[in-house]
Amino acid sequence: MTLSKHDTRLQTIRLLQHTAGQHALLDRAGRLACDWVELAGDRAPTYQLLLDERLLPSEHGRFIGVDVDRRVLETCRVKYATRAYASWLEGDLVPLVVHGAPELANAGVLVFDSWQAARGAEIADILPHLFDFARRQHARAGAGFLFVLNVCLRGVGDKEARRYREQVETHFGCTIPSAAWESYPTASGKNKMLLTRLRFGF
Ligand SMILES: C[S@@+](CC[C@H](N)C(=O)[O-])C[C@H]1O[C@@H](n2cnc3c(N)ncnc32)[C@H](O)[C@@H]1O
Repeated sequence: MTLSKHDTRLQTIRLLQHTAGQHALLDRAGRLACDWVELAGDRAPTYQLLLDERLLPSEHGRFIGVDVDRRVLETCRVKYATRAYASWLEGDLVPLVVHGAPELANAGVLVFDSWQAARGAEIADILPHLFDFARRQHARAGAGFLFVLNVCLRGVGDKEARRYREQVETHFGCTIPSAAWESYPTASGKNKMLLTRLRFGF
């Protein structure tokens, strides 16, 4: 069965729900007990899903949609004008995590799902910062941390894809089994994405 992006969003939510006894990222009612940070994207579909799946609203967690594109955030503010369980943060996520932006202090989930290709210096430069953030957040709250890393295989050959997976494993500090890497086509069908969910402390 071919996965869709929507499937992957739902799977991430199910992972948190099915492992609920092993972390403190959800409260006893199954609502978010931490902030869910994600590249917002047009109309922030993950925020809608968190509402639909009743992880929000919550007293202890929000959706924080980050995007470099101001127009994208405008679509989110318009769509969700009456639902106040999200924050919209304009900027590049990488410097925000490097500089410890206070808006991200309560993050327990980070979804970095970018068109960024899994090759070259650019992704190699970003990975250490995202992993540092995941580790810091895990150490700070002691609640566990979920890091979803989802990048594009556009122009990425087998050798480069292997190299990318090795880099991720090195940063994570352990082997990631093949089954924990998922690939699915982009909406246009022209490219593929490569996703893995990395759990810290659970
Ligand atoms: C693939 S979409 C996000 C999809 C969304 N999370 C979803 O589930 O559909 C990528 C979005 O992230 C933004 N983006 C890409 N890299 C970014 C970065 N480093 N910092 C902030 N925003 C970024 C782009 O402007 C784009 O709107």
